[in-house]
Amino acid sequence: MSEDLTDQVVLVTGAGRGIGGATARLLAARGAAVGVFDIAAELAHATADAITASGGKALPIVADASDRKAVFAAAASLSAAFGPLTGVVNDAIFIRYGPVEGVEEEVLDRMFAVGIKGAFWGVQALLTHRGEKPASVVNLASPVADLGTANTSSYTAVKGAIVALTRQLAVELGPRGVRVNAVAPGAVPTPGARAIVDEAGYARRRAQTPLGRLGEEAEIAAAIAFLIGPDASFITGEVLHADGGITAKSM
Ligand SMILES: NC(=O)c1ccc[n+]([C@@H]2O[C@H](COP(=O)([O-])OP(=O)(O)OC[C@H]3O[C@@H](n4cnc5c(N)ncnc54)[C@H](O)[C@@H]3O)[C@@H](O)[C@H]2O)c1
Repeated sequence: MSEDLTDQVVLVTGAGRGIGGATARLLAARGAAVGVFDIAAELAHATADAITASGGKALPIVADASDRKAVFAAAASLSAAFGPLTGVVNDAIFIRYGPVEGVEEEVLDRMFAVGIKGAFWGVQALLTHRGEKPASVVNLASPVADLGTANTSSYTAVKGAIVALTRQLAVELGPRGVRVNAVAPGAVPTPGARAIVDEAGYARRRAQTPLGRLGEEAEIAAAIAFLIGPDASFITGEVLHADGGITAKSM
């Protein structure tokens, strides 16, 4: 039986589409109240409306995950609507690939601001707006944090930082009843990923992946929902690879 997430109140950044969207829908289907946080207004509203239409609890929040005040305001609104937060999923990303010599300062700043600072603000907002219950953070990592991959230097820097931060925060926040984990998805053809990976790139990823296929958004959402909820109550500091085995492969 699927885990029951009734009484959970979870803020999901980047929840308008892709992995974040699938996560918001799954958490809500299992009973959680979800803050559907996205910088794209139409996506935030569409996902929240779909959840509400199927009987779930959702609050659309249109904001930028790199904006500390906006993330705190989002957590305050979610808490006012559904009660103190029990979790946050730090999913929002700004991503560009390319050779290291071409990485531009403004692009690097934006990637770090959304991908790294955004995760800090999500954790801080949870700590400010949580109640007495145990709480849980899930960060989105990537196999690029473990494996050298050409032309991903800035993205690898973001996800390497996220993996290190996940372990560090698990140690710092464990005594306060806050678990901190990460999910590292393999190749999932979300709208965002399709914008930077072409068909040849996906053919290579299929061939490299031991399970011989790409992942689906719902498969990543299932891993995130597991780590967010009480079924994972003794798991912290873990990076769960939902990647078809690509990180396990050496040749
Ligand atoms: N898709 C993959 O293959 C893959 C693999 C490994 C890791 N990941 C990670 O999973 C996460 C989700 O990726 P995805 O492929 O679903 O991406 P996506 O681009 O399809 O969706 C990301 C969502 O985040 C929103 N967003 C972007 N910037 C934002 C901001 N500043 N504030 C709030 N919302 C913002 C977008 O509007 C979009 O709805 C990312 O952290 C990504 O690095 C994805």
